Amino acid sequence: MNNFISFSDIDNLKLLVKEAIELKKNPLKYKKLGKDKTLCLLFFNQSLRTRLSTQKAAQNLGMHVIVMNFGSEGWELEFEDGAIMNQNKSEHIKEAARVIAQYCDIVAIRAFASLTNKEKDQAELVMNGFKKYAGIPVINMESALRHPLQALADAITLQEFKTKHKPKVVLSWAAHPKALPHAVANSFVEMMQLQDADFVITHPKGYELDPEITKHSTIEYQQEKALKNADFVYVKNWSSFKDYGKVTNTDANWTITSHKMNLTNHAKFMHCLPVRRNVIVMDEVIDSENSLVINQANNRTFAAQIVLKKILEDEKK
Ligand code: CP
Repeated sequence: MNNFISFSDIDNLKLLVKEAIELKKNPLKYKKLGKDKTLCLLFFNQSLRTRLSTQKAAQNLGMHVIVMNFGSEGWELEFEDGAIMNQNKSEHIKEAARVIAQYCDIVAIRAFASLTNKEKDQAELVMNGFKKYAGIPVINMESALRHPLQALADAITLQEFKTKHKPKVVLSWAAHPKALPHAVANSFVEMMQLQDADFVITHPKGYELDPEITKHSTIEYQQEKALKNADFVYVKNWSSFKDYGKVTNTDANWTITSHKMNLTNHAKFMHCLPVRRNVIVMDEVIDSENSLVINQANNRTFAAQIVLKKILEDEKK
């Protein structure tokens, strides 16, 4: 693996998940693999899980870690080729990416969607800029369009908790007061398209994700119908893609309640966190024994660790 920006960088998801579960049994087994190697984590946005789990994953492999809150501490970056930089942007991605690559062997980046400029978000300026100019492996810690480390952790969690070969997995939208990005939902859909599962997406009309991403998935607009006999319920809010970045629906009837969970096949409940309790999901569901949210958060370490391990091993070849 040279980079991990999306699921297209993975050769075989099933095998990668199997190896991650093996790694989880003995996380320090490859403690020498990352000796004298440095991982740089650049955050253009806030994080709890991604920051700590990726740092822990690197430490489990014996790597050094440098963390920078680029969004608040770095110079504002210019991405446009040939830009006349006489406004507020102080440094071009061409220098910034190359400079950062002088200090580390792998760079991991978090840079959310603006949700104001669809074209720029779709272009993945930050992730692609680093990929183009850094000349070292790049890991996506959530970009404008994707959150593959979260989806890989979710794949590990699904594998650990599924009790049948082809479970029914439902991705449900729920209302949220703020406009949220599409990245978690997009990567979850891309990951599920690689799984042997009965996968259904449910959301109100007008909340369709990018049709390029969902084109091979089933969409059911009636949430209760979608939830019937589900083995896993993954809830997530996202803002409108069509009416880009807008909150056009605040219907609290989409909240996951115990009544809705009773329609399922005693389903496991999943969410990437952070979650707004009693807005996205009721306390009784997230606090129930069927809630996997802490298992998902724990698996973030092993998702990051298997990705770092693959990159380090391929660098040695
Ligand atoms: N799920 C997730 O990526 O959490 P953080 O935003 O806290 O890193």
